[in-house]
Amino acid sequence: MFISFEGTEGVGKTTLIRKIYEYLVQQGQEVVLTREPGGTPMAEQIRSLLLSVNHDENMSNDTELLLMYAARAQHLQQVIVPALLVGKTVLCDRFTDASFAYQCAGRGLSREKLNVLNQNFVSHMPSVTFWLDAPIELGMSRARERGALDRFEQEKVAFFEKVRAGYQELFEQSPERMKRLDATQNPEQVFEQAVAYLK
Ligand code: TMP
Repeated sequence: MFISFEGTEGVGKTTLIRKIYEYLVQQGQEVVLTREPGGTPMAEQIRSLLLSVNHDENMSNDTELLLMYAARAQHLQQVIVPALLVGKTVLCDRFTDASFAYQCAGRGLSREKLNVLNQNFVSHMPSVTFWLDAPIELGMSRARERGALDRFEQEKVAFFEKVRAGYQELFEQSPERMKRLDATQNPEQVFEQAVAYLK
């Protein structure tokens, strides 16, 4: 199984993924826990470039999109596909839905650009995607508590409202794959919601 986790900043993805990881391992599954952008040494370098706030120039929206897919291509080839081929379960913190939500809905890039990349460079899609949804202010205050903000976290509420609307759009388009979790609940309750779907 290939499961991805999505949502705006500070909604508790990392906590949920760790809990699901432990749950599946206890069930006897071989599980690979990974993230995007990142998941391989080279893709993690691309992540640093994407998240850094210390650039002397603005990153163009197209560059941002293409770097996301450069990292994804490497991640798919090195980690995701090999794991799926030997029957492991892959838990991925963000995948292509994040590119739609952030680069298309958030930054305003066309869906055509994304479709071209998905059609040509994405060989496997998650069978289940958990979308952790919560009001933007709640997540942003949690993100601020974590410390220094990265290039995305420094965006304004209006940007994240668009990202959230992007996830809502995807949710409506693929109700079978995308499961919405109420991320205003405590971590244990969010985990219970996810496990109910998995069962
Ligand atoms: P993270 O904070 O959840 O680890 O994700 C890093 C940031 O990258 C997050 O702000 C969302 C952003 N992102 C995109 O904009 N597009 C993508 O395709 C992915 C995977 C992440």
